[in-house]
Amino acid sequence: MKTRAAVMYEHNQPVVVEELELDEPKANEVLIRTAASGVCHSDLSVVTGAIYYDAAVALGHEGAGIIERVGDDVTGFSPGDHVILSFVSYCGSCRMCEMEKVCLCESYDVPRGFQLDGTYRLRNSSGDGILQMARIATMSEYMVVPKQNLVKIDEHYSLEKAALVGCGVTTGVGAVLNTCEGGARKLRSGHRDRGGVGLNAIQGAVLAQAERIIAVDIAEKKLNFAKSFGATDVVNASVYDPVEAVRELTAGLGVDYAFEVIGNPKTIVQAYNMVRAAGTAVIVGMAHHQSDVSIPAQHLVSTERRLIGSFYGSCQPKVDMPKLLGLYTEGKLKLDELITQHYRLDQINEAFADMEAGENARGVILF
Ligand code: APR
Ligand code: ZN
Ligand code: ZN
Repeated sequence: MKTRAAVMYEHNQPVVVEELELDEPKANEVLIRTAASGVCHSDLSVVTGAIYYDAAVALGHEGAGIIERVGDDVTGFSPGDHVILSFVSYCGSCRMCEMEKVCLCESYDVPRGFQLDGTYRLRNSSGDGILQMARIATMSEYMVVPKQNLVKIDEHYSLEKAALVGCGVTTGVGAVLNTCEGGARKLRSGHRDRGGVGLNAIQGAVLAQAERIIAVDIAEKKLNFAKSFGATDVVNASVYDPVEAVRELTAGLGVDYAFEVIGNPKTIVQAYNMVRAAGTAVIVGMAHHQSDVSIPAQHLVSTERRLIGSFYGSCQPKVDMPKLLGLYTEGKLKLDELITQHYRLDQINEAFADMEAGENARGVILF
């Protein structure tokens, strides 16, 4: 069958929207009609090569849709089911999965972007295979994906809102509620660098009843979004030194937790320098795959600071995603307010430009 998809053919070049040939789902795979795809900074990171995929790759890793057909050996899913796409395939039974660290599942050692059997499902008109970002490629009208990447949700949820739970919401909220020591612990003060994902870390801090939430960004518009999502203080890092500003706001002490949600080595070090002794800096942003961070080694010990990573909000997609939608229904999680712009698939380059200009909380492609 045919599908239209956004494809990265060359790093740092405009993305191409074109018609591709899509194979039928094989065993353990499912064909989805995509309803919506969020536009996340990680998609742009694939275009720049910061998150490295060989070309050509169909983009998108934050989406939701409706099951069209299922392949052999697929149980528990039927045509018509509404699903969120998880951007990790997890088996549920390896050592990491048994530890409930399913996003760190170690079962699938397949080259990036291929289906689990190591082959393509997408081809262009020249017959060349096209990879799928995160094995899903939500910026495509239809996608064939592993059943391991599906999270079934109740049909009454808007698929457009549900799409955001596929990455940004779960990554940001989960960094606070799951990664930080099981989350139950009450946060006293947090700090956020905040775009689409950062706003959700703010929402996580609100849910964790943080007393103070300091948002840091270089764009005034983003700081205004941050306030409306629950930040109690904001710091414009293009005007003030964010480390000094955060120390001033905390009577010289520093924050209990800092969340870096950009993936920039400079802001990762800033986040580390903002936390108090025995505090925790949580790195959520995906830095360039070749970048390093340097932290004074003795200082790490003498201050007992902790520097930890958080991947996909340390989530269990099948447990956490329906839970987050439930919080939305209860009015405790904002999803409507995250969406500040809709795009058609063929406007993807415009959507990336808007993201780089800091225009949106989240842009969403509707199909
Ligand atoms: N200091 C403070 N804020 C900054 C700086 C800086 N030096 N540089 C950029 N920012 C801000 C931008 O203004 C923007 O508001 O970081 C924010 C990034 O937000 P988005 O572009 O919306 O990106 P998002 O989709 O939230 O992704 C952020 O999370 O999941 C990861 O891979 C993803 O690494 C990416 C990160
Ligand atoms: Zn993402
Ligand atoms: Zn596993």
